Amino acid sequence: MKVKVSVFGFGTVGRALAEIIAEKRKVFGVELNVVSITDRSGTIWGDFDLLEAKEVKESTGKLSNIGEYEVYDFSPQELIEEVKPDILVDVSSWDDAHEMYSYALAEGISVVTSNKPPIANHYDELITLARENGVGIFFESTVMAGTPIIGLLRENLLGEEIVKMEAIVNASTTFILTRMENGKTFEEAMEEARTLGILEEDPSKDIDGIDAYYKAKILHWVSYGEQPEEEEREGIRNVKDARNVRLVAEISKGRISVAPRKLPDNSPLLVSEVENAALIKTENLTLTLKGPGGGGKVTASGVFTDIIKAALKFPSPR
Ligand SMILES: NC(=O)c1ccc[n+]([C@@H]2O[C@H](COP(=O)([O-])OP(=O)(O)OC[C@H]3O[C@@H](n4cnc5c(N)ncnc54)[C@H](OP(=O)(O)O)[C@@H]3O)[C@@H](O)[C@H]2O)c1
Repeated sequence: MKVKVSVFGFGTVGRALAEIIAEKRKVFGVELNVVSITDRSGTIWGDFDLLEAKEVKESTGKLSNIGEYEVYDFSPQELIEEVKPDILVDVSSWDDAHEMYSYALAEGISVVTSNKPPIANHYDELITLARENGVGIFFESTVMAGTPIIGLLRENLLGEEIVKMEAIVNASTTFILTRMENGKTFEEAMEEARTLGILEEDPSKDIDGIDAYYKAKILHWVSYGEQPEEEEREGIRNVKDARNVRLVAEISKGRISVAPRKLPDNSPLLVSEVENAALIKTENLTLTLKGPGGGGKVTASGVFTDIIKAALKFPSPR
């Protein structure tokens, strides 16, 4: 079965995805064919070489420098209408991409995304649209990157009621807090994170818990199929004594909270570096999930699995 894929966004994750697809083009009877790639400089569409596109982007910063291929200035709607892929993959940092997903789903095109705000803010309308049109919307890498918490909640635990979850889902705040544990001030640790390129373009998204809040909201949607009634968010700016403190997201029915918390010495949530962790308590099970929460290859791996699910038409019941 041949499947046409449009890739929207060609940053760290998009280029790591290109590498994976180039390497594993044929999986489970599916032949993946990337027919278009879009960055802010335009869309390349047609019979281009995936690895050449990656090289051009890495060496010149713009896909539009690809030379021998035509570059189109499509609006997101035109992209869907002209290219007509089977699967739209959003690996961009565009906060308002939900409208593009709506066009795609309405056209019978499945959507795979690692982009948080569109899912956190428009989950119910997108899921409804996907169901009405008999297609899927997949978003594994929006939370804990390639560590499969979404698949766990959305598929493996479908028959279990989720009682409570506590999770560390933002590695940048872990980095800063662990540096503070080792004697640095908040400002020094923040500067180090900025220099290493660990922080989001807008550092407030990490420091003030916005990124973790989006993830908590997605976990709430996936666990309960509804919007949380109560929401609380506090970042790490006011942490003075960082010993054993992590930015913890808590999710229970009707409520999400993101706040710094002091953890016991033996807590599985006491992760370091890029590691994320989640404690999931259901009616009958208590589970701990740990794994890397970021990085191009790891995030692209979750996206790639979602592409396979979309191609094989996995149902997405919640
Ligand atoms: N990196 C990770 O570890 C990680 C983990 C989990 C989730 N994510 C999410 O995955 C997505 C991609 O992450 P990333 O690290 O690859 O980000 P990135 O390196 O900043 O790349 C973002 C890409 O999106 C493109 N883009 C943004 N707005 C656009 C628009 N309006 N039209 C067309 N292209 C647009 C950018 O184009 P230009 O190149 O032209 O600027 C760039 O290619 C983000 O939503 C991020 O939050 C990332």
